[in-house]
Amino acid sequence: MKKILVTGGTGYIGSHTVVELLKNPDYSIDIIDNLSNSKEHVVDLIAEIAGKKPNFIKGDLLDFELLKSLFEKNDYDIIIHFAGLKAVGESVEKPLEYYENNIQSTINLLRLVRTDKPTDFIFSSSATVYGEQDSPKCVETMQTGTKLTNPYGRTKYFIEEILKDYANTNPNFCATILRYFNPVGAHPSGLLGEDPNGIPNNLMPVVMRTYTGEIPALNIFGDDYDTPDGTARRDYIHVVDLARGHIASLEHSKPGISIYNLGTGLPTSVKEIIAAFEEASGKKLNTNIAPRRSGDLPECWADPSKANAELGWHTELTIADAIRDTLNYLNKQ
Ligand SMILES: NC(=O)c1ccc[n+]([C@@H]2O[C@H](COP(=O)([O-])OP(=O)(O)OC[C@H]3O[C@@H](n4cnc5c(N)ncnc54)[C@H](O)[C@@H]3O)[C@@H](O)[C@H]2O)c1
Repeated sequence: MKKILVTGGTGYIGSHTVVELLKNPDYSIDIIDNLSNSKEHVVDLIAEIAGKKPNFIKGDLLDFELLKSLFEKNDYDIIIHFAGLKAVGESVEKPLEYYENNIQSTINLLRLVRTDKPTDFIFSSSATVYGEQDSPKCVETMQTGTKLTNPYGRTKYFIEEILKDYANTNPNFCATILRYFNPVGAHPSGLLGEDPNGIPNNLMPVVMRTYTGEIPALNIFGDDYDTPDGTARRDYIHVVDLARGHIASLEHSKPGISIYNLGTGLPTSVKEIIAAFEEASGKKLNTNIAPRRSGDLPECWADPSKANAELGWHTELTIADAIRDTLNYLNKQ
């Protein structure tokens, strides 16, 4: 039996990953989440899908004493660290909150990792660490950390560097840094999906709330980029494919630091996402052309070939699948 701690496990990507993890009868799972951007009810939904309920601890990773007592009671073999604040715009407004929450929580976990036996540590990094590059197709070997445009991205970059430094001191540390591109979609059951507290930042939750009428019109930030239709292009990956990427990483974990892009390798524009959503839902969305947002890149997509070759992981689901599952999720709310 392997004991796994999933931080942020009631969140969007964490919950889908816990469902995949629970398929393995040899995994015993504890979720810790402070519910700042998720709901405790998600634990029941995970149990409904997986037929098994993970253990849930409501707690903040900044509470070192709480974490310490958790690690004293449990001998974790694997830590999957999703917990973090993730809204780019908010990080510009509240940089200290982002640095403290994201970086200090990671340091707290690292202080408790055992050094006398192997521990797998998977960290949710982001394509944002690439910042502005000469080519929009991001490869793991590119230099990161230069030309980052917001505190959120810098927290991810700094944490990657902290993990590398820490790995030098602990030869039993098996860290995998997964650089996610743009997760979209929902669980095919319609029970789990993206349901952020507050005003959403990412495109798909805004599309969803425009569809439901919660947001009167969707702002398209810039239609004069040097892209085929003038709108920004990103690499949208189905959240279930992304969740499966964590399982593949665990199966291939090794001492030291391993870094993988998790993306499809295909760019899709904002207008293409909107058109695909309108076609699948049969409903026209209200949109506005708004000025470009400062810090937004025109284009960014993954070169996923390293994860394909080394982890044997490939995306299987399309944007059409993601939109179908998103609509199914919305209809079940
Ligand atoms: N969704 C994306 O577009 C995206 C892209 C790249 C990377 N990531 C990263 O992946 C991870 C998961 O993202 P997500 O989309 O599932 O976000 P999410 O907000 O849905 O999930 C994060 C969870 O962490 C919890 N949390 C935050 N701070 C905490 C703390 N101090 N202690 C305990 N719990 C805390 C929140 O309550 C939430 O449930 C994040 O680290 C995010 O930065 C996300």
